[in-house]
Amino acid sequence: MIDILLISSGPDRSQKIEQLLEGCGIAHRVRAQHGSVPQLRAHAADIKSADLLIVDDVDLEPHDMVSIEEALSHMPQLNCMLVTPAPSTALLMAAMRAGVRHVLPWPLDAHAFAAELSHVWSKKTAGTRREGRVVSLTSCKGGTGTTFIAMNVAHALATQRGKRVLLVDVNQQFADASLLVADQTPAATLADLCAQIDRLDNAFFDACVMHMNDNFDVLAGAGDPIRAGELRPAQLERVLALARSQYDAVIVDLGLGINPLAIHVLDQSDRICMLVRQSVLYLRAGRRMLDIFNELGYASSKISVLVNQYDKHAPVDLQAFEQSFGTSIAHRFSRDDKQAGAALDQGLPIMSVAKGSALAQDIVAFAHMLSPAPQKEKKGGLARLFASKPRDVPQLKTGH
Ligand SMILES: Nc1ncnc2c1ncn2[C@@H]1O[C@H](COP(=O)(O)OP(=O)(O)O)[C@@H](O)[C@H]1O
Ligand SMILES: [Mg+2]
Repeated sequence: MIDILLISSGPDRSQKIEQLLEGCGIAHRVRAQHGSVPQLRAHAADIKSADLLIVDDVDLEPHDMVSIEEALSHMPQLNCMLVTPAPSTALLMAAMRAGVRHVLPWPLDAHAFAAELSHVWSKKTAGTRREGRVVSLTSCKGGTGTTFIAMNVAHALATQRGKRVLLVDVNQQFADASLLVADQTPAATLADLCAQIDRLDNAFFDACVMHMNDNFDVLAGAGDPIRAGELRPAQLERVLALARSQYDAVIVDLGLGINPLAIHVLDQSDRICMLVRQSVLYLRAGRRMLDIFNELGYASSKISVLVNQYDKHAPVDLQAFEQSFGTSIAHRFSRDDKQAGAALDQGLPIMSVAKGSALAQDIVAFAHMLSPAPQKEKKGGLARLFASKPRDVPQLKTGH
């Protein structure tokens, strides 16, 4: 049951929204009141007890988001949906910064409205049955090694730490994570799954993922920007909610950059890993990316900066990053062109190609940081992310 507070600027519109709520098939209770964004404070008591605040306001401007931000800052669990005619890009960005993830144009499209409600519903229920942890890897530039590290860390968590792991490829350009572990064409991709989201259950999900070994599955990416453009945040959230309930760890290869879809995934991530390489280009872009994470309200404790292709002779050293970013580097992965290239050519994890290499060891070390062995468990930061559960199992047979 979703508890909804609807604040609307006109009775006709309020009635129309209530009709749509009736038709969307999601259990809810709605309280409707007359008002607009600048008057939100007057409704503070009612907002407090709601799961979803819908504000329908014909005259929304970016500066109105101050009132929304104030309301959301007191109630971090509250979902907020704004409805307004033809929302501008400036309004969308201001809303996103204020923590609003649902902005719909008036007149409302019944299908889009129902999809957003379903997202709020799955978010509410996901919170109660959460098991697995979502770790997203992202970068401000292509070619950083995001896909390579995501896949190898996922593989190491499965094979070295005995975790049940899903790698999800959410790249919105040319998704390629599945190619790093298999030469077969995936039976289905994330786009296929999202296109049939109404069929989503454990069995359908299981039929869509590639089974790499007993513990490690891969959900291939949409494949190209056109298909990725069809992905909807609400669909992706349902996929992640189900994945959480089925796996100990969900590693997301988010690829490059920040956009509304990526922000939805980042919102749901327990940890965000920003990968950089030792080039001056990353100093500025990485700093900006961290600033945006901050503007989006992510706690700095949720963010880890990782250096890939580390070379101690490179002109930009770790200290330069720490000075520019104002945070320490959580981990580094050695540069090894030969073995990384061999792994790529063979479509195998680095552990299968060069187990003893410094790069493979760096990857295993990171898997241990995410999921420490029980006796060595530390109390803070990364160490608790996948804190072992009683059903923690020893390493299972691997397919590679
Ligand atoms: N630590 C590393 N040492 C050497 N080469 C690497 C390393 N990590 C990744 N690479 C190589 O860098 C290239 C880009 O990697 P990729 O994962 O596709 O980057 P991204 O997903 O960030 O665009 C690939 O050829 C990959 O093999
Ligand atoms: Mg990639």
